[in-house]
Amino acid sequence: MFELFPASTTTTFLIILISIFIMRRARASRNIRPEETEVTVESPTEFTKKLASALPHSVILPRDTTAFKQSVNAYWAQQACEMNPSCVFRPRNVQEVCSTVAILKDEYDRRREEGEEQEKERPNGLFAIRSGGHSPVSGAASIHNGVLIDLSLLCDVTPAEDGSIVAIGAGAKWKHVSQALDEKGLAVVGGRNSDVGVGGLTLGGGLSFFSPRFGLVCNNIISYEIVIASGSVITASESSNPQLWRALKGGSNNFGIVTRFTARSFPSTNIWSGFLYFPSSQSLKVLDAFHDFVSRANPSDPSKSYDDYAAGPIASFTYLQQLGIEAVAVNLAYTKLPQDPKKWPTCWSTSKFKSLWRLWSTCKVRTLTSATNELNELNPPGRRQTFATTTIKNHVGTLARTHMAYKGAIKSIRKRNVKGMSWTLVLQPFMPSWARKGDSNPLGLDRGTDEPLVNISFTVNWANQRDDEWVETTTREAIEQIELVAKVNETGHPYRYINYCGAWQRPFMGYGEENLQFLRNVSRLYDPDGLFQKGCAGGYKLGNSRMLYVQA
Ligand SMILES: Cc1cc2nc3c(=O)[nH]c(=O)nc-3n(C[C@H](O)[C@H](O)[C@H](O)COP(=O)(O)OP(=O)(O)OC[C@H]3O[C@@H](n4cnc5c(N)ncnc54)[C@H](O)[C@@H]3O)c2cc1C
Ligand SMILES: *[C@@H]1O[C@H](CO)[C@@H](O)[C@H](O)[C@H]1NC(C)=O
Ligand SMILES: *[C@@H]1O[C@H](CO)[C@@H](O)[C@H](O)[C@H]1NC(C)=O
Ligand SMILES: *[C@@H]1O[C@H](CO)[C@@H](O)[C@H](O)[C@H]1NC(C)=O
Repeated sequence: MFELFPASTTTTFLIILISIFIMRRARASRNIRPEETEVTVESPTEFTKKLASALPHSVILPRDTTAFKQSVNAYWAQQACEMNPSCVFRPRNVQEVCSTVAILKDEYDRRREEGEEQEKERPNGLFAIRSGGHSPVSGAASIHNGVLIDLSLLCDVTPAEDGSIVAIGAGAKWKHVSQALDEKGLAVVGGRNSDVGVGGLTLGGGLSFFSPRFGLVCNNIISYEIVIASGSVITASESSNPQLWRALKGGSNNFGIVTRFTARSFPSTNIWSGFLYFPSSQSLKVLDAFHDFVSRANPSDPSKSYDDYAAGPIASFTYLQQLGIEAVAVNLAYTKLPQDPKKWPTCWSTSKFKSLWRLWSTCKVRTLTSATNELNELNPPGRRQTFATTTIKNHVGTLARTHMAYKGAIKSIRKRNVKGMSWTLVLQPFMPSWARKGDSNPLGLDRGTDEPLVNISFTVNWANQRDDEWVETTTREAIEQIELVAKVNETGHPYRYINYCGAWQRPFMGYGEENLQFLRNVSRLYDPDGLFQKGCAGGYKLGNSRMLYVQA
């Protein structure tokens, strides 16, 4: 299954180590559930009782221990599982969402009128909304002492007869979507990890294997079914509530609870995809191959050939504290069958990646579901997680400095010996032209440059709570170092992908003043009292663009 290259003893050793690591992670993704968190059963408040009596079949109280724990533990990041909601509301249909939003709005108004002292001091919100639970920021889709709205039962995937559109329940995961569509020879512009949720990814923008062809995930949503603050369910599309339709393409949870997305679908066969694994001694060569491919891929320069079917490269540099080793993995994809299914597609066989000495490759023709499962196995749930992101131009010096910031942190991780830590730098190309394909959005990526951009993110996980602060600070410092270099060299870009941001970042600032003003206008129109600004905990808000949440 793996293509093995002539190997010295050291590389054989490395191969064994990495295989063990990969297998352990793969196993972890199947079996290990987040550690059971202690749930203290308090007696329900008046408000919780009211909600429970209005929707007895869909409200889960802490005393329903099994169902309650199951829902509260269904997050990717361990920190989010440690929050204690006062109850879980798991709607079975959109009418139940409407009833609950109406009840929440009454309570919100009542508390505002009473001006409860506590609410003024820390407006931590009444409820949180969760789809796939893959936000790494604790409190983005989880809540302490409030209602957790768990959309997991709204997960139907219904393709239209003619195959041109598909209705997707907001609580679905991307695996539900690809499984339903693979068998029909269809696909949508969707996530690349099978376990990630449709809701959060789509409302934040979303990068897909299909983005070079059709644009961001959000640019391919023709309509949204959404429950707004008044408790009514409305449709946002090009012809009905068009401003709201545009605002939802990157506006996250600021406008209402989306219950269904209708996405464009298109015929799709198997794709070519997989990972190349390299020892860390190849890091600089991988960096060079990345830069070279991305600069050749500039679609705005007609002298350069660009194949829209190529997706990636996604280059990940990882340090594993437990094993004390570093490894490099690069994901390549091609979203149709290559001419010769046994060979690499031309765009990749002519790239520098092809000739780089590597440990092995898993690249092959496979279903989209299989490709997204492969990415998923590298990201099992149940550990403490943090993300942070920035955007730069595809500039050799800045890329080198980025890699140096990643390397620099490894020294301190070793020194502190952070238990179970894996420290990963991920680089992904992003062409501003992708943001312009499909429907218009308020992300602000169409401003200024046409130059290829590079999406930088750190995805970090570790075992113990006592390291939380240290890890967050280290991650933030690495991003700040890169941003400083980019600023000095004028190789930065203000956009920060909301779904990769850390709690301290302010993604809406990067959308640009006009887009942010537009989002605020739409919020005022559909939610004049600010239920989703102050009542809905978590996520980045439009006011000061900061995260609204309280730590458990
Ligand atoms: C392993 C992994 C792989 C990833 N791969 C990709 C990728 O390939 N491409 C990409 O673009 N991103 C990717 N991401 C980032 C991903 O987009 C975000 O983590 C996203 O928030 C996940 O969505 P979710 O529904 O699972 O999250 P949740 O944690 O459930 O929600 C995230 C936010 O969205 C809000 N929200 C969710 N659903 C709704 C709704 N129906 N109505 C209103 N608000 C809602 C929540 O309140 C919360 O603030 C990945 C993340 C992980 C952890
Ligand atoms: C970065 O990546 C994400 C998804 O992986 C995407 O939605 C976002 O728009 C990308 N672009 C930039 C410039 O960060
Ligand atoms: C970029 O900025 C840094 C200062 O932070 C400087 O040392 C470096 O030489 C500059 N140029 C490049 C190509 O990185
Ligand atoms: C927002 O609303 C104000 C006042 O109604 C209006 O003047 C302004 O042009 C709007 N801005 C955007 C970007 O929609």
